[in-house]
Amino acid sequence: MRFDVFTLFPDYFAGPLSTSILKRAREANLIQVELHDMRDVTDDKWRVADDAPFGGGAGMVLKAEVVAKSLENVLNFDVGVSAPPCPIVYLTPQGRTLNQNLVEELASHSHLALLCGHYEGIDERVIDAIEPIEVSMGDFVLTGGEGAAAILIEAVSRFVPGVLGNENSASGDSFATGLLEAPHYTRPSVWRNRAIPETLLSGHHANIEDWRLEQALTRTLDRRPDLLPAWSERELSKRQRKVWERVQRQADQKSEAPEKTDIGEFEDEPGFNSLG
Ligand code: ADE
Repeated sequence: MRFDVFTLFPDYFAGPLSTSILKRAREANLIQVELHDMRDVTDDKWRVADDAPFGGGAGMVLKAEVVAKSLENVLNFDVGVSAPPCPIVYLTPQGRTLNQNLVEELASHSHLALLCGHYEGIDERVIDAIEPIEVSMGDFVLTGGEGAAAILIEAVSRFVPGVLGNENSASGDSFATGLLEAPHYTRPSVWRNRAIPETLLSGHHANIEDWRLEQALTRTLDRRPDLLPAWSERELSKRQRKVWERVQRQADQKSEAPEKTDIGEFEDEPGFNSLG
């Protein structure tokens, strides 16, 4: 998988690309990340890539020609005339919010160009001409697209065969199953008086699987109920359906139980006098 990154700050990527999984993936040549400094196409002494916005206002705007020339030089096509050799992803808060489905969709390509904006953004005319896939990391504003591009490279690379030690790892991730993940524990089995759930020590694989599913469902119901309709419409095994029904029953019981107040907690204890 090849990523061509177009940026004004190539140094930004030094840390993320030379750490952990991305470092190993690059060393094994499973992914190639080429950084292109868009200032390289400027022809003035100061390598100016931006200018003030027409109509006034704060901030600076990345020049259309700088972006177009950078893309054309590396990708060998004519912006607005011929098609680029790979999808161009523009990182912008105005894009489609990145999620695991979009990551997988992007990972189905063997080559992606990532365009990082900076300052107030990029001259809209070049965006209109290249028609990129616009992708956002969420409803917040970063200083530039570099952080977003680093995240995207990491998320997409996890789907490249061989990048994760265990080929199954990406498929068991949160969101890949359509649910949040069950909690994980490791040795010691008791830590500062906190024991791990007993089922995990039982060695009974089917029960452990059911327990994990129950935890995943309970968490998802609690934190991301929006994910559940899609999951429950899948073809479920008998066991999965049973666990799902149990989790729903527990949730119903919880919502029917009266809220405990501070007083309520102690009301039944001997010596408690509600009049003080
Ligand atoms: N550039 C600035 N903010 C961004 C965001 N939220 N997502 C992607 N790129 C950005």
